[in-house]
Amino acid sequence: MIVCVCRAVSDRLIHELAAQGLSPEQVMARTGAGSCCGACRPTVSRLVQLARPAAHAERARPEQVRPLDAA
Ligand code: FES
Repeated sequence: MIVCVCRAVSDRLIHELAAQGLSPEQVMARTGAGSCCGACRPTVSRLVQLARPAAHAERARPEQVRPLDAA
């Protein structure tokens, strides 16, 4: 799926760069996404946050998982 229409940047490319540890700003600088109309910038940032290795590690930490019945 194309995320940045202006620069034809795909979600796949954004995910690949984010998985290498690049920040949203670095992904945008590397790909050109967000450099024209800017409409894609929030989506690029969100995709990077979801794909970065630290985000996966954070989600996988068991001490941060609350039981369903915890109030
Ligand atoms: S859609 Fe990405 S800069 Fe316009």
